[in-house]
Amino acid sequence: MNPAFSVPVRPVIQAPPLVEEALADGERAELKTRIKRLMQAQDAVLVAHYYTSGDLQDLAEETGGCVSDSLEMARFGHAHPAKTLIVAGVKFMGETAKILNPEKRVIMPDLAADCSLDLACPADEFAAFCDAHSDRLSVVYANTSAAVKARADWVVTSGIAAKIVKYLHSQGHKLLWAPDRHLGEYVQRVTGADMLLWQGSCVVHEAFKAEALKKLHAAHPGAAVLVHPESPEAVIALADVVGSTTQLIEAVRTLPNAEFIVATDNGIFHKMREVAPGKTLIEAPTAGVGATCQSCAHCPWMAMNGLKKLAAVLENGGNEIRIEESVRAKAAVSIQRMLEFAAAEKAGRIQLGD
Ligand code: 13P
Ligand code: SF4
Repeated sequence: MNPAFSVPVRPVIQAPPLVEEALADGERAELKTRIKRLMQAQDAVLVAHYYTSGDLQDLAEETGGCVSDSLEMARFGHAHPAKTLIVAGVKFMGETAKILNPEKRVIMPDLAADCSLDLACPADEFAAFCDAHSDRLSVVYANTSAAVKARADWVVTSGIAAKIVKYLHSQGHKLLWAPDRHLGEYVQRVTGADMLLWQGSCVVHEAFKAEALKKLHAAHPGAAVLVHPESPEAVIALADVVGSTTQLIEAVRTLPNAEFIVATDNGIFHKMREVAPGKTLIEAPTAGVGATCQSCAHCPWMAMNGLKKLAAVLENGGNEIRIEESVRAKAAVSIQRMLEFAAAEKAGRIQLGD
């Protein structure tokens, strides 16, 4: 039996309906002016994920904040001197910011912005999984609660998961992985590590369809196929590039192709268009006819962020991330391991080989 499947298959989490912020003419500019004034008065910086609205991404850059993948969001927020971090993304990103910066006020436009991976991995069940396999190091994806991170040995993001697992494998460790089974299987394939996998999945990436992607690619034979590793194995198998959101954007910027088929949340197109204005971007197919918001290539939790909610939270207070100190302190250890690994690898102090 493949040890990867010794954890029961979990039902896919039901996502909320997709509701995107609608702004009337003139409202956008007025909201942005108001938010900028409030941010300055509150010494706040905005850290946004690539899947949030173009308005929030633009605002983050116009105000000296950052738009990035989840690894860089953590790094940037930690290094920035602002007293308030505004995290436009999903809850685990806000929690990561708070874990690393307990002295700062960390707020989000909407605290209900969750993630199907986080929801699929309750801390008590994860602890039982660890207890049942205490001979293994636990590596969890950043898309988890503070309590799960507190129990884990390592936290990783998609941008660095394979490198860290490869390193741990080279040190002779057997691993336990949670919660995304597709990313876990991908990392297992590229590293050869011995990994037991939790069976969570992302409602957005789970929906990409390999057969439809093959047909689309046949109609656009010159297109490069870019896939986020939260996608199913059959979709990853068709990829020219597999990587984190930042790595996929870099591929659009640097590859010579004129067309790209992109299997990740379509919020990423905002930055891709900016870095490669002449290139054609095509959404990878999801469920096609009859698709629901479980399969429409846009994360309904990311869509909960918007300018109106951000203005309201800066004006009225609230929506502050709070984490019990004993949990925060433990979670900080496993996140710091990842950040230190990333810094050491970048500085050439860790050689991973081929
Ligand atoms: P990245 O770290 O690649 O930005 O991914 C975060 C995420 O939630 C993807 O669904
Ligand atoms: Fe979670 Fe998927 Fe949304 Fe990313 S896209 S935040 S993994 S539900």
